[in-house]
Amino acid sequence: MPNLADLRRDFASHELLESNVAADPFEQFKMWFDDALASDVIDANAMTVATVGEDGRPSVRVVLLKGYDHDGFVFYTNYGSKKGTDLIGNPNTVFHFFWPQLDRQIGIYGTVEKTSREESAEYFNSRPVDSRIGAWASAQSTVINSRDELEHRFAEFKEKFGDDVPLPEFWGGFRMTPFKFEFWQGRQNRLHDRIIYTFGDGAWTTSRLSP
Ligand SMILES: Cc1cc2nc3c(=O)[nH]c(=O)nc-3n(C[C@H](O)[C@H](O)[C@H](O)COP(=O)(O)O)c2cc1C
Repeated sequence: MPNLADLRRDFASHELLESNVAADPFEQFKMWFDDALASDVIDANAMTVATVGEDGRPSVRVVLLKGYDHDGFVFYTNYGSKKGTDLIGNPNTVFHFFWPQLDRQIGIYGTVEKTSREESAEYFNSRPVDSRIGAWASAQSTVINSRDELEHRFAEFKEKFGDDVPLPEFWGGFRMTPFKFEFWQGRQNRLHDRIIYTFGDGAWTTSRLSP
C-alpha cells in the first residue's frame, strides 16, 4: 500500500507566460485543446461539470464537450437528470478539464442556456442508433429496480423505433457562455502558472494568480 503522503510529482513540461498567452481566451482554449488532442490524453473532451441544486448543495460529474466557439461551450444530456434540473433551476456552472499528461487544468465559469431544438436534433441524429435508443431507455438519474429493467426498456424502444429514433423532448444540449477562464500550468517547485481571463466592459483582461 503506497503512502499517500509520499505520492507527488514535479511538473516541468511547459510554461504559461504573459508573453505567450492569447489575448482571446477562446483562442487560448483552442491552443491547449489542440495540444491535448495531439498528445496521448485519453478523452481530451471529457470535462467535469459542476452544478448547484435547489438545496444549495454542489454536485459534479464528467460529460463530453461536443462543441465550442465564441458563442460558448456545448454538451448534451437528459434535461430531467440531476444536472439538467440543477442547471434549469440555477444556470451557474463551471466546466473543468484536467490533462495530466500536459500538467494542465482549465476552469471555465459561466451560465448555461438550452441549445435550440434544431441544434440538439442535429447532434442527436449524428449519434449511433443504439445510443439514441439508450437516451430513450434511460430516465437518467432516477432510481431503477435492476439492470434487467434497463435492458428491457432498451429492447422495447428498439422494437418501437427501429432505425428511426426521434429526438426525445427531454434530451438536448446546454451551451455555456463564459465570464471567466482559468488556465493552470503545472511548474517546478509548486510555482505553477495561473492566468485568469475576466470579461468586463466588452473586453477580456488577464491577470496572474499566485499558485
Ligand atoms: C467520460 C465520460 C463521459 C460522459 N459523457 C456524458 C455526456 O456527454 N452526457 C451525459 O449526460 N452524461 C455523460 N456521462 C455520464 C455522467 O458522468 C453522469 O453519470 C450522468 O450524466 C448522470 O449525472 P447526473 O445524475 O449528475 O445528472 C459521462 C461519463 C463519463 C465518465
